[in-house]
Amino acid sequence: MWKGRFSKNTADLVQQYGESISYDWRLYPHDIAGSIAHARAQVSAGILNQDEFLKIETGLREVEQDISAGNFEFSIEAEDIHMNIEAALTTKIGPLGGKLHTARSRNDQVATDTRLYCRAAIDDLLSLLSSLQAALLNRAERYAGTILPGYTHLQRGQPVTIGHHLLAYVEMLARDKNRLQDARKRVNISPLGSGALAGSTINLDREAIAKELGFDSVTTNSMDAISDRDYIAELLFDFALIGAHLSRLSEDLILWCSSEFAFATLSDAHTTGSSLMPQKKNPDVCELTRGKTGRLYGNLTAILTAIKGLPLTYNRDLQEDKEPLFDSIDTLTLALKVNAEMITAMEINEDACQAAASDPLLLATDLADWLVKQGIPFRSAHELVGKAVAASVHSGTPLDQLDLSQIDPAFTKEASAVFDLQTALAARSNPGAPSLDNIKAQIARWKNS
Ligand code: ARG
Repeated sequence: MWKGRFSKNTADLVQQYGESISYDWRLYPHDIAGSIAHARAQVSAGILNQDEFLKIETGLREVEQDISAGNFEFSIEAEDIHMNIEAALTTKIGPLGGKLHTARSRNDQVATDTRLYCRAAIDDLLSLLSSLQAALLNRAERYAGTILPGYTHLQRGQPVTIGHHLLAYVEMLARDKNRLQDARKRVNISPLGSGALAGSTINLDREAIAKELGFDSVTTNSMDAISDRDYIAELLFDFALIGAHLSRLSEDLILWCSSEFAFATLSDAHTTGSSLMPQKKNPDVCELTRGKTGRLYGNLTAILTAIKGLPLTYNRDLQEDKEPLFDSIDTLTLALKVNAEMITAMEINEDACQAAASDPLLLATDLADWLVKQGIPFRSAHELVGKAVAASVHSGTPLDQLDLSQIDPAFTKEASAVFDLQTALAARSNPGAPSLDNIKAQIARWKNS
């Protein structure tokens, strides 16, 4: 493409080093849509006549079909998807293909393609996030009232339910969706027409191009437009945080599937065995999800590092934006799909949850609250219950079977009414707390959202 200035061919190693076609081929539908919109604007600018436009459009459509049918041979001599498509077009329609690149550079072209690709990926991921929310809601509804201990420091704290626990993840995923919807606004702006860095002396109708491609508006500084990769960094952060949420969910499920907890059973279809130990049923999907979060973080670090020292405007470093972006999108797409399927099929072992939740120490806070309701300051109540807990631990007598009045006369017979899990749960009726009524209302809200 630049043979005029050069007297030697590009060295093989340089070709190998610089090609991006092996991964940016996937931009092809966006590259073709962008080229058709660009060519249409060339008609109103008087660069192409209608007949030439139709030839270019038909040629580009044919190239698109060839690629989707697998009948296209990508060449690394043509470096990237943009030049591969232009070369194929010229082979099909002759020198007229050479008009297409008027008033355009690969710099605004790649920025346009990548934004279109990101927009489509955001829309796909939003729907996958909704499917995972639906899977969690399905299980939250089925086990809405199944009481289990809620943990802090991985030590038993207070009673919650499986419904409440799973809804916590539905909340996280909702924030993830909000972040992507917000990022989409900054993605959906057209850089096409920014040229190599300083626009063009040929005046194309940038608004019309943007409209045809479904962009909301056009960028307002050509230098920023072609070198901006903020939207990629931002998306990679959003993806990394989704990874963090999936990883935390994975960790909960790994614990729940252990013999020590035994709260949950994953389907045989979503677990693996051991080549040596016949009894094993391993939660590999959860472990892979937790592990792949490392790649999502790594990809964010890669883009942040790639852009940090770049002078304006385009530098070839920017080609390094695509592999992390594509990898994170591929990784998340599969992670969201497999997790939704696995969670829908997950069963909760209600007996094990019940056994763990029947530890009366889970209601130590409730006992302190009961003293508070008798007029005792919370700090004193905390200390009295702490003494009762110590007596229970040292004597081996469960807290609900101790004679509490021996610890302090403030503990009257009525105090023992505290040790009822259903009452304890129902009492947690503040907004956001896990009373069954609240949980049911939250499930209904999410189902209607
Ligand atoms: N493959 C290139 C990239 O992904 C396209 C832009 C090339 N521009 C250039 N001036 N060499 O960044």
